[in-house]
Amino acid sequence: MSFDVETVRADFPILSRQVNNRPLVYLDNGASAQKPKVVIDAISNAYEGEYANVHRGLHYLSNLATEKYEGVRGTIARFLNAPHEDEVIFTSGATEAINLVSYGWAAPRFQPGDEIVLSVLEHHANIVPWHFLRERQGVVLKWVEPEADGSLPPEKVLAAVGPKTRLIAVTHMSNVTGTVVDVGAIARGTDVPVLADGSQAAVHLPVDVGALGVDFYCITGHKLYGPSGSGAIWISRERQAEMRPFMGGGDMIRTVTRDSVDYADAPLKFEAGTPGIVNQIGLGVALEYMMGLGMENIAAHEKMLRDYARERLRELNWLHIQGDAPDKGAIFSMTMDGAHAHDIATILDKRGIAVRAGSHCAMPLMDFFGVTATARASFGMYNTRAEVDALIDGLQFSRELFA
Ligand SMILES: Cc1ncc(COP(=O)(O)O)c(C=O)c1O
Repeated sequence: MSFDVETVRADFPILSRQVNNRPLVYLDNGASAQKPKVVIDAISNAYEGEYANVHRGLHYLSNLATEKYEGVRGTIARFLNAPHEDEVIFTSGATEAINLVSYGWAAPRFQPGDEIVLSVLEHHANIVPWHFLRERQGVVLKWVEPEADGSLPPEKVLAAVGPKTRLIAVTHMSNVTGTVVDVGAIARGTDVPVLADGSQAAVHLPVDVGALGVDFYCITGHKLYGPSGSGAIWISRERQAEMRPFMGGGDMIRTVTRDSVDYADAPLKFEAGTPGIVNQIGLGVALEYMMGLGMENIAAHEKMLRDYARERLRELNWLHIQGDAPDKGAIFSMTMDGAHAHDIATILDKRGIAVRAGSHCAMPLMDFFGVTATARASFGMYNTRAEVDALIDGLQFSRELFA
């Protein structure tokens, strides 16, 4: 199937709006992506005509909502090429997903002195749940630094694995630098379970969890052109069998008595309470939309954007690109001497260009680069070369103001 960026853009109503009297140039996709009309319509249709609580309902609407909601599990399984649909556990996003692994799988199994290998590229969502285990039960965090260009060779991660390593938790794509980490090579190189944070990678690259050979792979819906509050984690059956439930409540039990509780089978066992029904339905539609365009086509378009943006940004010899690994997504973290990242973002905003400034929930990485903040331009499937040019003009204008 061919990929035409103008046709894609027409599917996203917000992209035709003006910001500060300029056409919107949305380059904050790493934080959250915009939604296509099909997703917006699916959300309103679900509330307008198909809404009820899911599971065990005996009436028409409940059955309809359950069918739509449960159908998304299959969509996610296809999106991730997961061997089994019941390996997909719905979550509110990547943060809940990683906490589920920390509380449900790691906490009951890890002993004081056991080690978790983490990379310095990680988002706080893949750091803080492991700090909990360090603080509460004496687990040791072993950090692996990237190379100066932001790349993270798998051998470097594997070199940190020792006899006490119980988990490797690593991003598949950095939200700060766009670095793609070869999580498949890491998983193939060790018997230690691997958690891959796919929050960014799954948006930009075709993912095949079976081929990667990891044990845990999480995604978050709002970056995947779906609703916020949606997401999932794929957990192999083998690892699921070792897990205990994280949250208790309705929907995750078979029977409850005064003295006992019998849990439902996975994946419901790990999904307590009324879920984000419509959010997940919207996510399903977003993933169908992406698969309809073709993940290979999306990746090829974004690779073109990455190469063009890299070439143009490198022309600005006063601009520092923090982490510019050869294998990366179209995400650029930038600093400029004499201008704070927040100032750059504010000036760009005046020109209708949305970028994010700050530490991007990755303070250890900011530390590694020796900065407190960067201005980050992160591209999505609907961005264009003309928008790269607008970014370059905006950066040049900022430079003139601060020089
Ligand atoms: C790499 C990475 N991991 C985890 C997260 C957390 O995702 P969420 O807040 O949607 O749960 C993000 C969000 O920015 C991210 O970029």
